[in-house]
Amino acid sequence: MQALPGFRDFYPEDCARRNHVIETWRSVSRRYGFLEFDGPVLESTDLYRKKNEEGAEILEQLYSFADRGGREVALRPEMTPTLARMVAAREKHYRKPMKWFCVSNFFRHERQQKGRLREFLQFNADIIGESSPQADAEIIALAVDLMRAFGFTAEHFVVRLSDRKAWMEFLQSRGCDEAACRTVLACADKLEREPAEKLNAKLAPTGLVVDDLKAFIAAGSPGAFAPVLEALAARGLSGFVQPDLSIVRGLAYYTGVVFEIFDRSKSLRALAGGGRYDGLIKGLSDGAIDLPAIGFGMGDVVLGHLINETPSASEKLKAALAQTSDVYVIIADESRRAEALQIVQTCRELGLSTDFSLRPAKIGKQFQEAEHLGACHAVLVGQEWPQVKLKHLATRSEEAIDHAALVPNLKNIKLR
Ligand code: HAM
Repeated sequence: MQALPGFRDFYPEDCARRNHVIETWRSVSRRYGFLEFDGPVLESTDLYRKKNEEGAEILEQLYSFADRGGREVALRPEMTPTLARMVAAREKHYRKPMKWFCVSNFFRHERQQKGRLREFLQFNADIIGESSPQADAEIIALAVDLMRAFGFTAEHFVVRLSDRKAWMEFLQSRGCDEAACRTVLACADKLEREPAEKLNAKLAPTGLVVDDLKAFIAAGSPGAFAPVLEALAARGLSGFVQPDLSIVRGLAYYTGVVFEIFDRSKSLRALAGGGRYDGLIKGLSDGAIDLPAIGFGMGDVVLGHLINETPSASEKLKAALAQTSDVYVIIADESRRAEALQIVQTCRELGLSTDFSLRPAKIGKQFQEAEHLGACHAVLVGQEWPQVKLKHLATRSEEAIDHAALVPNLKNIKLR
């Protein structure tokens, strides 16, 4: 029996990698003053149906079913609708702007391809209640600093910045109604991934062709993101961002600035994506709560590929994963096992990561195990009791001390 296609087992080494990713996401978000939240894995299917047209990609990919009570439910494919629902229910409790992040697992029934799985981890950061471009810049700066914290530089990735408003103005000037706009945006989202003939067939009812979209993208919209770019330049982050109208985003709720992060060689799918969604909370609360919002999601899958391919990021990961334990207690004389266990317990109570052999073993083997675990110190308990040996494994220096003096010595271990 194996895990289902697109689902992953996490062995300890995979968990260690995942923890490195999660801890990086968390520490940078906190540096930016974001608070962590979470929601349920299972939601009412209506939450996703409400803002999406039938046939929308996200609906096609839903893991949805009727639960035992006959309720239509779905495993969450993304966080934004849940966040909007939670905000609409309780926004009065929170000062604005709300800066929230979460790290959760999501489910999409995707076609098998590199960088896309059916269960994945995604970091989300959102700012709610602030419509100024300063919030857009704050969110993009966070995305850039996350990437830098993983060990990437401007050589490795770029934030491609676009604006749905510029697209809507262009499409309205070409006489597109709402349905046509949706069709064109869905096609624009696939320009780099689907052949022109296929897209032209989809575009036929809108009166536009692929070349029209390409001409609009090539012309650019210089003024559209000037304030965001200025705020990023003030932070010294201009080199990470590139205006690029070919980004439109696949999800329906975006209303303004949108962006995606790609590897520079464009060999991978997007690492992250997001944008402004000023109408979603209003739509989900039937007009009761009207709050502007902007945010993005960054998954762990493409990120993992890029970390593997980028030496500076792999090195950082390796350093974070280097197994270290503080103390290994070596039982050189089995008749002293009880005393050794007491030392193990004391060490652990001091907060030191401590290990020992569960069964009698040759001293050499126990030392090997200590090295394997990357232990900083070994404590040798043997015939010299009440004296024990405290050995610093890296320098091989050792001293014989009374076991009663061990605790004060160990208290300083982490400092050495
Ligand atoms: P999204 O573009 O669908 O946006 O996903 C964001 C990121 O999640 C992607 O760039 C990718 O790294 C990762 N991702 C998405 N689907 C998969 C998959 N099947 N396998 C692996 N990774 C995946 C959203 O989800 C928006 N809700 C983000 C957002 C937050 N917008 C505003 N706030």
